Amino acid sequence: MLAVAGSAIGLGNFLRFPSLAARNGGGAFMIPYFIAFLLVGLPICWVEWVMGRYGGRFAHGSGPGIFDAVCGRRPWAKYLGVLGIVGPLGIFFYYVVVESWTLAYSIFALLGRFEAAAAPQDVGAFYSGFVSGSGGPFHGRGAAYGFFLVTFLANFWVVYHGITRGIDAFCKLAVPLLFVIAVVLMVRVFTLGAPLAEHPDWNVLNGLGYLWNPDFSRLSEARVWLSAAGQVFFTLSVGIGVILTYASYLKSRQDVALSSTTAAFMNAVAEVVMGGSIVVTAAFCFLGPLGTREAVAGDTFALAFRTMPLIFARMPAGELFGFYWFALLFVAGITSSISLLQPVVSFLEEELGLRRRQALLAIGSLCFVVAHLAIFGDSVIDEMDFWFSSFGLPLFGLIELLVFLFVFGADCGWHELHV
Ligand code: ALA
Repeated sequence: MLAVAGSAIGLGNFLRFPSLAARNGGGAFMIPYFIAFLLVGLPICWVEWVMGRYGGRFAHGSGPGIFDAVCGRRPWAKYLGVLGIVGPLGIFFYYVVVESWTLAYSIFALLGRFEAAAAPQDVGAFYSGFVSGSGGPFHGRGAAYGFFLVTFLANFWVVYHGITRGIDAFCKLAVPLLFVIAVVLMVRVFTLGAPLAEHPDWNVLNGLGYLWNPDFSRLSEARVWLSAAGQVFFTLSVGIGVILTYASYLKSRQDVALSSTTAAFMNAVAEVVMGGSIVVTAAFCFLGPLGTREAVAGDTFALAFRTMPLIFARMPAGELFGFYWFALLFVAGITSSISLLQPVVSFLEEELGLRRRQALLAIGSLCFVVAHLAIFGDSVIDEMDFWFSSFGLPLFGLIELLVFLFVFGADCGWHELHV
C-alpha cells in the first residue's frame, strides 16, 4: 500500500495540481476534481488492484501478461495491455528530468545559491538559465546535466534492488518522511502572515482565497473538466499500468479494497491539503495577485522553480526550508518515477525472460536517449505530458474498464474485490 501511495504522491501533487487548480477556477475546479476522483479515479483504482492481483496469481506482473490472464488468453489481449508499459515509460522520459531539477534546487538552497534569485525579475532568469544553460548565474548546461545523471542513475539503482525489497523499504521510509516535511512547510507558510510590510493585503488568507475561492463561471468550460479528470488519473497513477504491476505482488488473500482506497485517500490529502496550500499561497504572499497569475500561467511543472526560491530567499532559515521543500519534491518524485519503470521491467523479466540487469540496461539505454529530447528540446516536456498523460492515461483507463466489465466480467470482478 505504501509503495502505491509512494507512486501516487509525486510531482503531480505538489507541482501539477496547484497550477491546474489556480488556472481552472480555483475552488470551482474541486467540483469536477472530486466528481472525477469518486466516479472515475477510485473505481479504476479498484479495477487495477483487482486485475493486478489476479494476474499475479499466474506470474504476470505487467499490462500484456495481466490482460492475457484476465481475458482468458485471447490473442488480442496482450496487445491491448502493451499500453500499460508504454504509458509509464513515456511519462518517465520527462518526469525524471523535472525530478532532477528538484534535486538540483535542494542543493542550490543549501549552498545559498538562491541569493541570485531573490528578486522577482531574477527568479525566472535563474530557472531558465539553469535549464537552458544561459541566463542568471549559469553558463552552460553542466549543472543541469550533472543533476540529471545523478537522478537517472539513482532511479535505476533503486529499481535494480527490486520491488519487494528496495522499493518497499524505500517507500516505508520515504512516504512518512514526505508527510512530515510537507506538514513543517505548511506550518511555515500558514505563519507567514503578510511578509511584505508595503503590501498588507498580500497575506496568507488572501493567498488561500486566491486558490480556493470558486469561480463557478469556469464550470461551463469543457477544458476545466478535462483538466480535472486528467489530473485525477495522473495523480493516482491510474491508467499508467503501475498499480497493475504493484498489485501483482500481492498474495491472493491480501486485501485490495481497503488498501487501494487508503492509498487513494492518502494521495488526495497530500494533494488537496498539502499541495493546495504551499506553493500558490506562498507565491501570493510575495508576488501578489498579478505576479501569481503570471507564475501559474507558465509551464505546468515550472511553477515551484519560478516562485519558491524567491520565497526562501526572503524567509528566515530560508536555506533550510528551501532544502526541505525541494528535497520533499525529490523524494515524492523518485517514489513515483521508480514505479513508472517497474511495469516494463516486469514485462522484460517475466514475459521475455531477460535477467534484471539485462532488462535495466535495455530500458536504461532507451530512457537515456529519449530523455535528451526533454532536456534539450523546446516545450518537449509539455508536449510529452499532453500525449502520455492527459491523452494516454484516460485512454488506457477506459480500455481497462471495458476489459474489466465486459471480458473479465463485473460479477467476477466484484467477487475478486471482496476476496
Ligand atoms: N502519480 C504521480 C504523480 O503525481 C505520477 O506525480
